[in-house]
Amino acid sequence: MKKVDVLLGLQWGDEGKGKIVDVLTPKYDMVARFQGGPNAGHTLEFDGEKYVLRSIPSGIFQGDKLNLIGNGVVLDPVLFIQEAKDLSRSGHNIVERLQISRKAHLILPTHRLLDAANEAAKGDKKVGTTGKGIGPTYTDKVSRYGLRVGDIEHNFEAKYKEAKERHVKLLNAMNFPIGNLDELEKAWLEAIEELRQFTFVDSEWLINETLAEGKSVLAEGAQGSLLDIDFGSYPFVTSSNTVCAGCCTGLGVAPRTIGEVFGIFKAYCTRVGAGPFPTELFDETGDKLCEFGHEFGSVTGRKRRCGWLDLVALRYTVMLNGVTKLFMMKSDVMDTFEEIKVCVGYEKDGAVSKNFPYELNESYKPVYKTMKGWQCDSTKFTSESDFPQELKDYIAFIEQEIGVPIALVSVGPDREQTILR
Ligand code: GDP
Ligand code: IMO
Ligand code: MG
Repeated sequence: MKKVDVLLGLQWGDEGKGKIVDVLTPKYDMVARFQGGPNAGHTLEFDGEKYVLRSIPSGIFQGDKLNLIGNGVVLDPVLFIQEAKDLSRSGHNIVERLQISRKAHLILPTHRLLDAANEAAKGDKKVGTTGKGIGPTYTDKVSRYGLRVGDIEHNFEAKYKEAKERHVKLLNAMNFPIGNLDELEKAWLEAIEELRQFTFVDSEWLINETLAEGKSVLAEGAQGSLLDIDFGSYPFVTSSNTVCAGCCTGLGVAPRTIGEVFGIFKAYCTRVGAGPFPTELFDETGDKLCEFGHEFGSVTGRKRRCGWLDLVALRYTVMLNGVTKLFMMKSDVMDTFEEIKVCVGYEKDGAVSKNFPYELNESYKPVYKTMKGWQCDSTKFTSESDFPQELKDYIAFIEQEIGVPIALVSVGPDREQTILR
């Protein structure tokens, strides 16, 4: 029986997961998404083209590999159909290469309204969600009100109507305007009809049979471990388990079938939305990270907050996921920096700790180690032998602090700008 290798983000999302899934897909027979939904924006670049995937796994561009949307994912039919059409236009046969779990939950137009209503009600305690209805959809799943993809095959209209009416009552109680709901609903029901051309599967069977046949599976995480509903900086998190354990529940694979866990991190840190970020920079260096790294959200276009690499947080998420290999992304963004700082501890009331605390707040101050920058263009590097000593030192220091090897370094957004070590 083959194992499932898992690739997931170790920070606050946008680490570069899409790029690396695309690079690794040739080695696998199937690529599967296990959680999240269109809050994700995974960017891929090759042959001078750029694609942003939200719900469709990033293995879709490589040969005839099967891509799967697992039961742990929440699916917005409108956004999904839009995404599938965009990709089909570029010559890829999505209908043949993608299957959807019957147990994946559906995002309704009213879930998006509830997302907005919840945010409005939170006032200055807003999470800064992507507005895609993620929280309310997972809430309905857990409170046993959800609609699933498999429901489309059985008496769907009645189930939809019941769910919608319940949501409208909630929205009315919150005094939140439902606006053009009729229009949203019309587009949504049309998208449901179009969704029927896709194959709905009992994906837990499909994936386990695939493994039993000796075929390999790569599971693609969305968001990052610091946004995990249990372990992230709660309540400034998303509503799913983004850590490796979420792959077991989100695909129906047993823990013992997990093989490699590829943990992906940026050589610095970014965060979109609200919540604590100890190494955040508010100065010129932060602006440079944002500008050189093009740090604007691929879903919302929001400016991403930027700061130095945080090894306290990284050590924590490596532990939570049982990471076997680290992949370091976007070190090229710091190519011109004279100095690079890395957070090695948090100081509070005169004591320094390397442990990620229960409630990360402003009272924790980062303790930095300063390293010399490599100050050369790394974007054309093709092998590790091209690396200047300063970049080697940066890598070695992270490996020493974290205790897991960095097996891949990414030096640009293109598929080709990927160096295996
Ligand atoms: P994901 O959500 O984890 O897939 O990441 P995003 O696609 O949201 O954000 C990563 C951004 O960085 C995208 O615009 C990528 O094209 C880009 N990117 C990925 N790897 C690298 C890299 O090594 N260097 C640079 N400069 N950009 C990269
Ligand atoms: P990828 O897969 C970065 C953030 C939002 C917000 C919080 C909750 O591209 O890495 P939600 O809409 O999920 O209820 O928002 O989580 N967030 C992300 N940040 N990358 C993502 O996905 C994210 N998905 C959600 O900004 O702070
Ligand atoms: Mg992203």
